[in-house]
Formats: sequence, structure tokens, C-alpha cells
Amino acid sequence: MPVKIVLNESEIPREWYNIAADMPNPMQPPLHPGTHQPVGPEDLAPVFPMNLIEQEVSTERWIRIPDEVLDKLLLWRPTPLYRAHKLEKFLNCPVKIYYKNEGVSPAGSHKPNTAIPQAYYNKVFGVKRISTETGAGQWGSALSFACSQFGLEAKVYMVRISYEQKPYRRLMMNTWGATCVPSPSTETEAGRKMLAIDPNSPGSLGIAISEAVEDAVTSEAQGRPLTRYSLGSVLNHVLLHQSIIGLEAQKQLAQVGDYPDIVIGCAGGGSNFAGISFPFVRDKIAGKQIQIIAVEPMSCPTMTRGPFLYDFGDTMQMTPLLPMHTLGHAFIPAPVHAGGLRYHGMAPLVSQLILDGLVEPRAVYQLETFTAGVTWARTEGFISAPETNHALAAVFQEAKKAKEEGKEKVILVNWSGHGLVDLAAYDAFFQGKLVDYEMPQDEIELALKALEGFPKPNFS
Ligand SMILES: Cc1ncc(COP(=O)(O)O)c(C=O)c1O
Repeated sequence: MPVKIVLNESEIPREWYNIAADMPNPMQPPLHPGTHQPVGPEDLAPVFPMNLIEQEVSTERWIRIPDEVLDKLLLWRPTPLYRAHKLEKFLNCPVKIYYKNEGVSPAGSHKPNTAIPQAYYNKVFGVKRISTETGAGQWGSALSFACSQFGLEAKVYMVRISYEQKPYRRLMMNTWGATCVPSPSTETEAGRKMLAIDPNSPGSLGIAISEAVEDAVTSEAQGRPLTRYSLGSVLNHVLLHQSIIGLEAQKQLAQVGDYPDIVIGCAGGGSNFAGISFPFVRDKIAGKQIQIIAVEPMSCPTMTRGPFLYDFGDTMQMTPLLPMHTLGHAFIPAPVHAGGLRYHGMAPLVSQLILDGLVEPRAVYQLETFTAGVTWARTEGFISAPETNHALAAVFQEAKKAKEEGKEKVILVNWSGHGLVDLAAYDAFFQGKLVDYEMPQDEIELALKALEGFPKPNFS
């Protein structure tokens, strides 16, 4: 039985899969915050290039991947699918565990799978500069890499606490030629407003998104080169680009004659989870028996405790209202180490699939995730990103359950990124400095109060 199941370059998928074509209940439309009417492409035009807006609203099942994008993706794709033989032996449970190694990209995670096409479509549209936000720096570094590949300028607003505590990703961005500033910054109206309220604000993803969107929409008026905004998760076109992960995994599993009983991914905004799982959700809609699990932190329990409502994607209320599981746009999550999972909302497509019972959300404690990550490193060898460790914790839970039930199962997990730039988090774990944190119900209710006058999604 092989350790690595690899595809030739010629076997790379040539089309992305769009789940919007197959959902039993379509996603409800994003709404204009002023009129409460569905937003049209022209409302989004100051923020995104039209070719990406077309993908955002498309219901075509298959969308061709441009050759120029494939050419860049081939730098690290197809990624290997591993059989976790050593972990299986260690766990001694009746499971086969396969993992898709997305840590082999230049930035070290799945994020370049969408950064590359986004940079490409912006370039084709005539955009010269892209603004974005980043939490712990994974997305900012991926976009910086992609912009350098296409000769575009990149401006990254990085959540201040990470900017100060995690210099290495910022240095990766600088190495790829991007400019990175701590958010809240003095460079935007949104940043200045936040600093006036709290000069020591640690920042949040919601605030950094507000700054990056403002940067894009005010660029022309302020004499900067033509700029559009780019988001590394949540939106439909991002999830579409990530579908290449699951499409490759399907081909690889077919090579060894296997098919998963369980598919697992961690979920911050939902992109790597969607990437590995949506091609399998398609099979589930068509009748396959398969369990599909999205894993989040107990400290930011968007899917497991946040209601499905219309809410803003950012703190300063600049985005359209999105139908999603949310903890409220004003929610500032506890500073756990999985920075990429500290977002108040969840991708509308993932949220809808949860409502429809096709995706099962699960929350795990921080200490359990690091315990899983350390065991993984000591068996499989790879050191995982703290975000990825959430998915691994669920793998361990499912393996144990299979043993208790006496059932043989095949588990597929997305190994979304390596943790080589996150070793300070492992250090804190080894020193016993990490704690388990569960969000108090009254804090969630308080943050949700801000949504009281908003339109409500349809549940029929
Ligand atoms: C390695 C890794 N995994 C997962 C995530 C979560 O993001 P998403 O839910 O969009 O995949 C991040 C976000 O930064 C990440 O860096």
C-alpha cells in the first residue's frame, strides 16, 4: 500500500467545481445594506473586478481553469494524498486515514489555490494593485506570492496583535514585494475611527477587512493605481477555486480503489473545508452515504452556536449583508493561536449546507487540537498549522468512535497547512500557557444584538 498517492501534472483538474449548480436549496442572495434588495454585479464593481464577480454569481457546474492559472498552480499541484500509516498504527483503530497535503505550496497552505486565480483575473481586468487583510498572515503571504507572480502591487492590512507577535509571515510578504501595515492603521478612515475608540486596539479580521475594502474603493480618488480588494475565504469564487483539492483527492482515492466514509476539514471562513468537501457533497446529494465534518474552535463557535442570519462581513459595515452563521460583526474573538479560525462569520455556501443537513459542524477545544498536532508530528512527521490541528482533533475523535462502534471506516482530512511559522504557539503549548476557552453565552447574545433590525433570511 503506497504512502503517497500522486497524480501526474497532466492529470491536474482543468475545471473548478461549483456547488451552486447542485444545492438542494440555493444560497440566499447577499443584500444591499441600504435598500435590503439583492446586490447586483454593479454594486460590487468598485470592490472586485467584473470577471470575478461573474464567478461569484455563477451557477454553472464546471468552470474552466485558464491555462495561465494552471501554469502557476503546477508549481506545487497536484498535491500528494498521503495514507497516514504511522498514525493508523499508533491509534490502533479500525480506520484508514488519508490526508491531502496542502502545505507544499510556496506559502505553505491551501491559500495560494485562490490567490493565484484572483491575481490573474485582476491582472486581466487591468487592475494594478490589490488590497487585502490578513489575520495571522497565511492569506497575506499567499496573496503577496500570487501578486509577485503576476507583477501586481499588494497592500496587506494585518491584524495588529499578529503583526507584532508573528513577524515571520510579514517578512514573507515583504520578501515577495508586498507592503504590510498593522491594522487598525492610520491610513484609512475605518482604521482611524477604531484607533480613536481604542489607541491600543489589538485589531480583528473584521476591522482589517474594513480597511482593505476602503483602500480599494478610495484608491482612484486618492491617486493610487487602479486597486481592487481580494478576500481569502468566505466568498463563492474563493470556495470555487479551492474545489481543486477535493477533485484531485477523488482521482487519487480512485487510484487506490477507496472512497471516504468521513471527510473532515477545519473551517475559519470555510474555504479549505469547502475545497476538500464540496465534490463529495455533490456525491452525497446524489445519494452517497458520507459524513462531512467542518471543525471550528470552541472559542469562536460560529457554526455551532452562531445563528443563521444576515450580517456584515466586516466590523465597519462596508460589505453587503451575507446570509450566514454568525456571531455578529462586532464580535472580537478570544486570542487563540489558530488566527485563521477567528472570524465572526462563515461562508454562505457552507452555512446553507449546514442548514440542509449535508454538513455537520463541530467545535473542539484548543488543548485537544495541540495534543492532536503533536501526536501527528510524532507519527506522520509533518508539523501542522494550529488551524489544521482542529481538523486533526476531529480525525482522532472519529477514529476512537470507529473503535467503540467496531466499524471500519475510511477518513479523508484536509491537511491545510504546515506550522513551521507557528512554532511559538507550540512553545506556548509545551510551557502549559495555553488554556481552553469557551465563549460565554451572554457575550454571543450581546454581539448579536447589533443585528436586531437587519432583514432575516428565509428558512423555508
Ligand atoms: C492553514 C490554514 N488552515 C485553515 C485556515 C482557515 O481558513 P479557511 O476556513 O478559509 O480555510 C487558515 C486561515 O488562515 C489557514 O491558514
